[in-house]
Amino acid sequence: MADQKIYQASTTAPVNIAVVKYWGKRDPKLNLPQLLNLSNSLQADLRTHTTAACSASFPASDSLLLNSSPQDVTGARTQACFRELRSLRAALEASDSSLPELSTLPLKIVSENNFPTAAGLASSAAGFAALVRAIANLYELSSSPTELSRIARQGSGSACRSLFGGYVAWQMGTKDDGSDSLAVEVAPASHWPTMRALILVASAKQKKVSSTSGMQTTVATSELFQRRAEIVVPKHMKEMEKAIKEKDFEAFGRVTMMESNSFHSTCSDTFPPIRYMNDVSWAAVGVVEDINRKAGKIVAAYTFDAGPNAVIYYEEANTDIVAGVVKGALGSVSGWESRDIKPQASDVLDAADVEVLNKGITRVILTQVGEGPIRTEESLI
Ligand code: DP6
Repeated sequence: MADQKIYQASTTAPVNIAVVKYWGKRDPKLNLPQLLNLSNSLQADLRTHTTAACSASFPASDSLLLNSSPQDVTGARTQACFRELRSLRAALEASDSSLPELSTLPLKIVSENNFPTAAGLASSAAGFAALVRAIANLYELSSSPTELSRIARQGSGSACRSLFGGYVAWQMGTKDDGSDSLAVEVAPASHWPTMRALILVASAKQKKVSSTSGMQTTVATSELFQRRAEIVVPKHMKEMEKAIKEKDFEAFGRVTMMESNSFHSTCSDTFPPIRYMNDVSWAAVGVVEDINRKAGKIVAAYTFDAGPNAVIYYEEANTDIVAGVVKGALGSVSGWESRDIKPQASDVLDAADVEVLNKGITRVILTQVGEGPIRTEESLI
């Protein structure tokens, strides 16, 4: 009788938030970015946990369960990841006949997110990174995170950055086949361990314009995007890498906020316009500005991806004057209980902004820049 054994491996992978944004593809099939970009990984409280298994005893077709609901795996993106990983395993099997032929067996993937899916919290990034890492573990591939980033990128562009922790750059590459469009570590999380992030969840609903279609329309219609490509992003990348290297929060914060503003400006300049930030997002911008004005320097920095949620960075030493002040204004929503943050009364916040935030924020997530994928024995199967 054929081998009925269930082979399996599990991992977690972090959500990553771009501080220099990826927006625009030079190849939409391979998800090759038009521009360099850089992110940080938020493993602590925002991650996907995935178990990859294969067995001759499974139904013949590959399957994927996300948060208990079956997902379509026939799409080109998922298929590309399966195909690439299977071919690496097949090469191993060809070189060592004692290895079980896992590359021929159906895959069963089970994933769980510990945060709302598709709320603009980069769930596809953590999802594809965990899927690729888990299958690579199952197949016992020796591929490095950078090598695996080439595969995860084909699932979702930003997923390539979630194969690392800390601060991660995604190199554009120049080759047509995308073999040099890879993620590399800029600095590990331990380099700047005091970096914190507070996420204000403004909506847990699925976003209206997906990043994939949004960025295509921006590239096709926005003239502002040309300037962003030629001048703004190359400048921000240089400044950001220097700020991270020197752990210079003011420089990091200034570039993070200007980058977010530049990205959302090109969204407004898209025809028809794309609007990811809403009134709640702008109230969060107002609060960050008030906090910085009071401090007399940049102690808090906002960024927004393809959705209205605010990610606010700050250093641990400024917890009271950033997270504490936001908690003082927004104490009633859930999420604060995860960390011991003392609410601070503040006379500097604009009352109208506070009112909008109180109505619009459904939850806060307190997190920090953390590790990349972590192998775990905890199976979801
Ligand atoms: C605004 O990686 O979701 O979050 O490659 O089409 O899957 P696809 O796009 P995706 O785009 C992310 C866009 C962003 C910025 C970023 O993460 O760099």
